[in-house]
Amino acid sequence: MRPAIGIDAVAICVPSAYVELGELATARGIPAEKYLHGLGVKRMAIAGPDEDPVSLAVGAARRLFASSGRDAGDVGYCAVGTETAVDHSKPVASYLHGLLGLPQRCRVFEAKHACYGATAALLGAVEWIAAGSARGRSALVVASDIARYELGSPGEPTQGAGAVAMLVTERPRLLEIDVGEYGSYARDVHDFWRPLHRKEALVDGHFSVSCYLDALQGAYADWKERAAGAALERSLYHVPYPRMAYKAHRRRLAVDGIGEADADARFAVEVAPSLRFASDVGNIYTGSLYLSLASLLAGGDRPADGTRVGLFSYGSGCGAEFFTGRVAAGGAAFAAALELSAPLEGRTRLTVSAYESIRRADATADRRAAAGSEASAGRVAFAGIDGRERRVYLG
Ligand code: HMG
Repeated sequence: MRPAIGIDAVAICVPSAYVELGELATARGIPAEKYLHGLGVKRMAIAGPDEDPVSLAVGAARRLFASSGRDAGDVGYCAVGTETAVDHSKPVASYLHGLLGLPQRCRVFEAKHACYGATAALLGAVEWIAAGSARGRSALVVASDIARYELGSPGEPTQGAGAVAMLVTERPRLLEIDVGEYGSYARDVHDFWRPLHRKEALVDGHFSVSCYLDALQGAYADWKERAAGAALERSLYHVPYPRMAYKAHRRRLAVDGIGEADADARFAVEVAPSLRFASDVGNIYTGSLYLSLASLLAGGDRPADGTRVGLFSYGSGCGAEFFTGRVAAGGAAFAAALELSAPLEGRTRLTVSAYESIRRADATADRRAAAGSEASAGRVAFAGIDGRERRVYLG
């Protein structure tokens, strides 16, 4: 029998600063309850001038190798899912490959499909191993993004930033993926988009919510046809804001014929523990689903070995996939050793006006001349560009 394939280890990296959503609501003249309860977000991470998708990806990947005990020299596949590309041509994955010193015998690429990009990279890694291409090597998959909407827009409280790094291997220690059992859905829509000249996304907010829910229903129905009768004990969703996961779970239960009377109790057990990190960080686009996985595995109520988990990945535009996995033997204990929540501690709280200044500086951040400043201990910093517009990183 073929050995199991899946996620062996996971690690997160978030910017060093955040904004309290209650304070943002006050500044915008909106009742705080709308953000805190209506959307379910408490804080959103704000990337500083030296933090970009590369520095966040490197931060998550370094932490992954340090905490998992795996060797970066064994990586043969390095893919980054992002919709915050730093270059139209050179992929974030190439910077990551260089900054980590990964082997040259390595498949390296960036995957884009809005928030779905990292799932394309992850399932590609699983299939790379299943096809026999890995020859014992591991795959590094990193989701890294900075979510930006116009200041004062309805999307503003659903921003965030961060990266999630995952190692995909045979005989994984965290989550065994049901290889090939995927339900897919796609439809050409303009629910959310970011033209090439813009840093901030444009969105048809309420339409995007209905596109997400239709995609969930479609992908889940497709998955059910392949995996008849398989009960799921935990459900992880793409989380643009935690309340969206609540709506998603109700829709999925409705497909199974489970009525509203039972939905809240099931949500509390099957989904709520996976939303803690999202309510502290916000939407990290490609990484949001995997931040949910990290949150689930980080908690005191982490699922027992063998627990069946459903994962729903949504990318605007739109494309979606529903797939499943099982917590590996010893997975709960191993997850505890990874100290997944440590990066959320010790962050700096920004005032709303400090956050607004950072956002104004974003407009020219990619064109500033590289300065020779030092990166803070253990972190990679984006320093600016050199005379030929090449990005420079320190640390
Ligand atoms: P809005 O129109 O300002 O908010 O923007 P609303 O009026 O819909 O209210 C939101 C919720 O707060 C509602 O709850 C209100 O009832 C409640 P619901 O009915 O939905 O359950 N509410 C209150 N609750 C308590 N006290 C109050 C109060 N007032 C209202 N006083 C919207 C909301 C999500 C549209 C906006 O934030 C937005 O445009 N966000 C960006 C788009 C987005 O996140 N879409 C999600 C689905 S698409 C997706 O996930 C893909 C994405 O990640 C991108 C990618 O794939 O790359 C975005």
